[in-house]
Amino acid sequence: MRTLTGIQPSGTLHIGNYFGAMRPAIDAQSRGECFYFIADYHSMTSLFDPAERRKHTLGVALDWLACGLDPKHSVFWRQSDVPGVVELSWLLGTLTPMGLLERAHSYKDKTGKGFSPNFGLFAYPVLMAADILLYDTERVPVGRDQKQHLEMTRDIAIKFNLAYGETFVVPESEIREDLAVIPGLDGQKMSKSYGNTIDIFGEEKATRKKIMGIVMDSRTPAEPKPDADKNLAIQLLKLFAAADVAVDFENRLRAGGLGYGDLKKALFEHYWNYFAAARARRAELAANLDHVEAVLRDGAGRAHAVARVVLKRARRACGIE
Ligand code: ADP
Ligand code: TRP
Repeated sequence: MRTLTGIQPSGTLHIGNYFGAMRPAIDAQSRGECFYFIADYHSMTSLFDPAERRKHTLGVALDWLACGLDPKHSVFWRQSDVPGVVELSWLLGTLTPMGLLERAHSYKDKTGKGFSPNFGLFAYPVLMAADILLYDTERVPVGRDQKQHLEMTRDIAIKFNLAYGETFVVPESEIREDLAVIPGLDGQKMSKSYGNTIDIFGEEKATRKKIMGIVMDSRTPAEPKPDADKNLAIQLLKLFAAADVAVDFENRLRAGGLGYGDLKKALFEHYWNYFAAARARRAELAANLDHVEAVLRDGAGRAHAVARVVLKRARRACGIE
């Protein structure tokens, strides 16, 4: 079973990225072959600063490796180091109906927010289909917001197979319903673009301040809170604390007597400890960037070896070879 997923280097990674995409991807390493990449071409649809792109590409590489991506087991590379993906995206694009792309939520969301669209943004799902199909991917772990993109990938693969004969593996998405949408500091979906994130490797003081600043209601600590399970800090605590610990906090909040300040303090402590080992690994990696670069270069070589074969198959199928 081959698992593949990508993350754009368009900002600093947050715990929504971690629980929605990275954790399932890291867990999948014990179940089969894994292909993980940094989607730098995709980041070009919304980020136009080369220095920022370089910085975030390195940051994402460090984050993945620190969080447990094992480069001996998994193939880990920069998307643009295998440029054949752009060629495949052209082959797929010629079979992709405009209507399919016009219905894309991500495109409609961005244009709806006043973002002036470029061709790359419109074609984003086609490049994503190329990412997935180029490596004969069977399973793609992502958050729920990517579900439609995965459906498009399947549609495009099926269309190509019908038009030109069996060429591509039709992939399945793996969406964890329990972790599917991690809420942000304001209760909305956590997202880089909403400014409501808790970063995986946030700086201590700043992150404590963010967590302590979560807005709660005005009930006194003594008041019982029958809706304790809906409390944002409780929901986040469940991600970081052992199940019995989180349930204990929830029960204390429900019964009355636990103040919001103490709850938020506990949330920060559990968050901080949860990533302690990874934080130490990240510091080591950051002091050894040659090693990180070598990991990515080796990954690109291994990714390219698979991509070559699949691209040849696709070129032959459609008659340009
Ligand atoms: P952002 O919304 O912060 O820009 P991306 O769109 O770059 O995040 O998402 C990268 C990966 O992380 C995707 O697989 C996405 O589904 C997942 N993801 C992002 N935010 C969340 C969230 N709040 N909950 C669960 N998964 C998320
Ligand atoms: N679109 C994904 C996101 O928002 C990133 C991505 C690009 C991706 N190519 C992919 C995810 C292929 C899974 C598979 O973050």
